Amino acid sequence: MQLRDLTTKKRDGRPLSDDEIRWFISAYTRGDLLDYHAAGLLGTIFVRGLDERELGTWTRAMLESGSRLDLSHVQQPKVDKHSTGGVGDKVSLALAPALAACGMAVPMISGRGLGHTGGTLDKLEAIPGFVTRLSEDEIVRVLDECGLVFAGQTERLVPADKKLYALRDATGLVEAVPLIASSIMSKKLAEDLDVLFLDVKYGSGSFMPDPVDGERLARTMLGIARSCGLKCSVALTAMDRPLGRAVGHALEVAEIGECLAGGGPADLRELVVAQGGEVLHLAGAASSHEEGRQRIAAVLDNGHARTLFEVVIKAQGGDPRVVARPALLPQAPAVEPFVADRDGFLSFHSVREVGLAVAALGGGRLRIDDQIDPAVGLVWRRAAGEAVRAGETLCEIHHRSGHGLARCQSHLTNAVEVLPAAAPGRLILDWLR
Ligand code: URA
Repeated sequence: MQLRDLTTKKRDGRPLSDDEIRWFISAYTRGDLLDYHAAGLLGTIFVRGLDERELGTWTRAMLESGSRLDLSHVQQPKVDKHSTGGVGDKVSLALAPALAACGMAVPMISGRGLGHTGGTLDKLEAIPGFVTRLSEDEIVRVLDECGLVFAGQTERLVPADKKLYALRDATGLVEAVPLIASSIMSKKLAEDLDVLFLDVKYGSGSFMPDPVDGERLARTMLGIARSCGLKCSVALTAMDRPLGRAVGHALEVAEIGECLAGGGPADLRELVVAQGGEVLHLAGAASSHEEGRQRIAAVLDNGHARTLFEVVIKAQGGDPRVVARPALLPQAPAVEPFVADRDGFLSFHSVREVGLAVAALGGGRLRIDDQIDPAVGLVWRRAAGEAVRAGETLCEIHHRSGHGLARCQSHLTNAVEVLPAAAPGRLILDWLR
């Protein structure tokens, strides 16, 4: 086959055959095709899309480009959640141990942050000693031992995605619904799950600022899950304000310690409880969403989820004492207030700018191989919609000797507005089941 023929076919609005799709994914993964030829095809897909059959074949071909986890010996329901990512979104760190404390097996394979968003792996690596780079055998061993595991993508799981994602990133072709949906779902299907929960973010801090696009992505991923026999549900949740109070790796781990002690910010707890309740219901471990919520709330309040978080941290080489003693996490040497310039109510004009403010301090990655400073970040002292007075601290900037401080402050100035009135919208806009 000639890749050029596939590109012109798609360009002219004709669907690709199953054989053509399978050939492309396998030849590109093997390294038999040139990047600029492959980018041509991805570009036409960006514009033309993929129909339901093409998308199903594309996703399965990506899945079959590598191996899958074999969790056939695991007796408990195997569950995971994926978030499309945002600013301060640390839900996975509390949700995984809470689900494990409710008897689920949670093989959580996550990604790293890029641009304004944070990544679960980077947050965990703020814990001294914590190792996220595990082989498939190690993933299974930690899962068997602890009931949960946090790991990065391995070389052998969905290698097609690794190559295609890098090419899309380099060529400005990331934000296409079928390409995002197949990328996320092929990796989740490789985890051998019974249940998947998807948190699709909308708003200025997300991939998909418009909720209509968010819903399209959500429905596309749900369709793939259904066609592969995976139980799945989706929530569309707000990223038009940061989630919780902390943004920055070690600061977010400290906030997770509070959530796992039954406290922490209300919006963080609500997402953990709501998403966990949904997973337990889907997995058949709770007779209703409400009963699931109560079970998750109970393991946050009685310390069981926190104990499991400590157990998995230890199993993955980290120092579990950080959960109870956040002072053992990396600390930035200096803290500077960012203050309100007038009386009014706090509103977030651009949450993306909040993420970029943290990246400016060294706490984010603008290129995939950038190093991250885990200690720096922000702690909000006021939440969206709260009354503030001129001169009052909106957030604390945790910085390293002024590195990036002026750029951080300028991003924060773009991020926030103090308005005569502001009321945040709903945290959970919709459920798709
Ligand atoms: N996250 C992924 O894993 N893939 C995408 O394409 C976008 C976000």
